[in-house]
Amino acid sequence: PAMVEYAEKLGFWKVYGYPEAVHILADPQTFSSDTSRFVPRQDFVEGNLPTMDPPEHHKLRKLVSHAFTPKVVADLEPRIAEITNALLDQAAADRSADRAAGRMELVADLAYPLPVIVIAELLGVPSSDRHLFKQWVDGAFNSSEQFSLVEPSEQQQRAVDRAFEQLHHLTDYLGEHAAERRRRPREDLLTKLVEAEVDGERLSDAAVVNFANVLLIAGHITTTMLLGNTVLCLDAHPDIAARVRADRSLVPATIEESLRFLSPFAALARVTTTDVAVGGTQIPAGEMVMVVLAATNRDPRQFTDPNVFDPGRDPNPHLAFGRGIHFCIGAPLARLEGRVALNILLDRFPQLRTDPDEPPTFLPSPNLTGVRTLPL
Ligand code: HEM
Repeated sequence: PAMVEYAEKLGFWKVYGYPEAVHILADPQTFSSDTSRFVPRQDFVEGNLPTMDPPEHHKLRKLVSHAFTPKVVADLEPRIAEITNALLDQAAADRSADRAAGRMELVADLAYPLPVIVIAELLGVPSSDRHLFKQWVDGAFNSSEQFSLVEPSEQQQRAVDRAFEQLHHLTDYLGEHAAERRRRPREDLLTKLVEAEVDGERLSDAAVVNFANVLLIAGHITTTMLLGNTVLCLDAHPDIAARVRADRSLVPATIEESLRFLSPFAALARVTTTDVAVGGTQIPAGEMVMVVLAATNRDPRQFTDPNVFDPGRDPNPHLAFGRGIHFCIGAPLARLEGRVALNILLDRFPQLRTDPDEPPTFLPSPNLTGVRTLPL
């Protein structure tokens, strides 16, 4: 099959192959992350790390990595365990009738609130406001519109406007908190972002707010998908589930394989800055290229028996967190949350099985692979 093809109706290129994806992600000069010319509105450009190119990207990434260090993340482990246990206790208390029958809804009970509470606490905004974040983030990301550059439908335009309207609520909210930190610093990530300096330069207010916004959104949808997907994979493979339950040293590899097998972000966008050949196919300058991670992570040239869920893959060089300069800054946090939460679920429940009477529902966006509800 073609590893690179032009999707006529959508007006952009799709890349399905692993080496082709690595080629693209390793060359930000030729494959820019600045997709703004294809987006009808540019409300949140400054400080939006994922859509920045070098040298600006390098500067901001360096600056925020000072605040978001591996140590900051590793120190969160006991708190992640505490929140997980408290959420599961709360769910048990709230649904005592259902719980007698041993039921839960993984997303509402744990997979959604856990990462939101963690990122809110890290940033320093009250996690008790999370019903507000949920309303805004869900409002921004629940469109099932297939994005097309050729014939942007009215519905697509409306979905974009609705999304931006919701995101403005979030940035206004974060802006108030950031301004407060400038007046009264605290021990939190927002204060670190407000105070961080590289070469004597500080971040602008807009950059602080937009970056915090990226973190809050990333903290909402991604780990939720990872946890749900991992539990789904184990449900579909009871033999593997039994092995992981008995030998917890297999948990990290199980999470990596879940990321490969059901990659939460199904595609990454780039824009060509010059004419370029990818895997033997010529792509003109100025075109949008979607790297379809859901496909690259199952390329048989890279992964033996790619459609088999096998936590024993070693190494497992999946691209679910991207590759190169934009490699996910939240990967250590997502991995830690996944590991802690899965271990606690296995400790607390003798079985984690989907409910045949109430099958899972999935997120509507074609670019997100994850459950919306997962009754167990
Ligand atoms: C970048 C996936 C969790 C923050 C990325 C990229 C991917 C990704 C594929 C690269 C984007 C590109 O190259 O265009 C994931 C997945 C996650 C996850 C699958 C969970 C399972 C998180 C979390 C946070 C986060 C928890 C923050 C709290 C970011 C940021 C970037 C990023 C800020 C941009 C980095 C840059 O451009 O330099 N993520 N992510 N992610 N992620 Fe994540």
